Amino acid sequence: MKDIQRIGVVGAGTMGRGIVQLFAQAGHEVYCFDAWDGAVAKAMDFITGLIERGVEKGRQTREQADELISRIHPCDQLADLAQCDLVIEAIIEEISAKRSLFAQLEEVLASDAIIASNTSSLVVADIAAECKNPERVAGLHFFNPVPLMKVAEIIAAVRTSQDTVSALKKVIDGAGHRAVIAADQPGFLVNHAGRGLYTEGLRIIEDQCASVQDVDTLMREAAGFKMGPFELLDLTGLDVSGKVMESIYEQFQQEPRFRPSSLVAPRIAAGLLGRKSGEGWYCYENNQRVDTPKPAVPELVAGLKVWIDPVADDHDSLLSLVQEGGAQVCDAPEHAELILIQPWGWDVTSYCTEHDLDARYTVAVDPLPGLAKRRTLMISPITEVATRDAAHALLAQGGDVTIINDSPGFVTQRILATIVNIAANIAQRGIASVEDIEDSVRIGLGYPAGPLSIGEKIGGERILMILDAMQAQTGDMRYRPSLWLSRRVTLGVSLLTPEASRI
Ligand SMILES: NC(=O)c1ccc[n+]([C@@H]2O[C@H](COP(=O)([O-])OP(=O)(O)OC[C@H]3O[C@@H](n4cnc5c(N)ncnc54)[C@H](O)[C@@H]3O)[C@@H](O)[C@H]2O)c1
Repeated sequence: MKDIQRIGVVGAGTMGRGIVQLFAQAGHEVYCFDAWDGAVAKAMDFITGLIERGVEKGRQTREQADELISRIHPCDQLADLAQCDLVIEAIIEEISAKRSLFAQLEEVLASDAIIASNTSSLVVADIAAECKNPERVAGLHFFNPVPLMKVAEIIAAVRTSQDTVSALKKVIDGAGHRAVIAADQPGFLVNHAGRGLYTEGLRIIEDQCASVQDVDTLMREAAGFKMGPFELLDLTGLDVSGKVMESIYEQFQQEPRFRPSSLVAPRIAAGLLGRKSGEGWYCYENNQRVDTPKPAVPELVAGLKVWIDPVADDHDSLLSLVQEGGAQVCDAPEHAELILIQPWGWDVTSYCTEHDLDARYTVAVDPLPGLAKRRTLMISPITEVATRDAAHALLAQGGDVTIINDSPGFVTQRILATIVNIAANIAQRGIASVEDIEDSVRIGLGYPAGPLSIGEKIGGERILMILDAMQAQTGDMRYRPSLWLSRRVTLGVSLLTPEASRI
């Protein structure tokens, strides 16, 4: 296996300069070249500025900083990278530019040097297609900002050798990042696994189930995510994310699970790109988001007759709230002015039809977050306003409430089930190992847990039930469960279980 000491970086932009800093910090001699004259000097200024701030804040000594800076070698021609054991390309995202650079690198470098591309969307085999030694070419996908995002994907293209992958893994691990290995498939691992949050979030607002702000609030406060899908889209820019959504969908031959939304194009055309254009899914004033005020909590209705579905997950907690709110519990739904249900995967309409309940008086409470976190109430198209308000008042005792329209799986169930299903299918397709799926999503996307662990916590059977119900109600193939998921549920084993003897 190649021992990587000297590292070259071509392209000194946003990603290149971060890669230079990472490996110089890890003790490597790093050589940096850019086709644009002032780019390397600008990158050096940027990196030294960061290092100097580290000295001021006492994170490193003057001597350590000087040593670190002396390990970075600005280059004014590609030939200066000749002694490198590994060259990482971080230039413009264009196949012709990358192919031509790789051909030039093959001329300059030793025959066993590794050449890696930081591409985020191109097929690595395509970049390597004209290389004489494609076995030493791989993808090496970092995330921005490189030194802080402590995961890197090694993309093993069809002709990449195991030695190349192993050498890259060793050098990434040595730099303190978690190296995960992914197949040369659209979105590789992290961007593939990240599809669910965006596409299902968009589907929810397409269906008018909930507002943008409510979807984000629920994903943060009920599901424990750092950011909701629309907050993330506003941060990255809809123009950038919109292109990724389209390209992954097309590259996966229009797989319904990745289907983008028709809501995106008109917003891009109108310049609603997000924070960078001052308006996206949210409006911003002085870089501060302007939120819609929360609706006022209605008055409690004394003596209200409430029936609680006996199979509700939070039956006893709901009962306490009803009693504390001065309502009375009745023993049959036909006598109730408010019927409380807790469906998994089903919308209010379907659940009422199936269980012979009057949808005018029915409100559903999402059982997934339970009552300890933000509570979601869901109404049918014919739920009476008085019924909705009475439920709001009762559930607002000791907790925050979000009210949404009828939606199979509320907000949290459908988004989380979609995320779990996509991750399960990544495992099914052997794109990455279970461990790598888990760690890359946790570190790269900042989810509260790995996607299969999220599924395991909710319960594989429940996830399957939510997906089956969503598919039954919508008829949409995007919700069809992955075989990885359904097999593990059928066999009664954890979603984190790899095949015992996969051939
Ligand atoms: N920005 C991100 O968040 C991000 C994340 C992961 C991967 N990537 C990928 O990393 C690569 C670089 O992205 P970036 O955001 O750093 O771009 P960037 O525009 O900030 O920097 C690219 C640099 O490459 C230089 N360059 C262009 N063509 C060149 C060539 N033929 N030879 C040498 N230098 C050349 C440019 O002068 C520029 O300095 C792209 O493939 C991108 O898809 C970007």
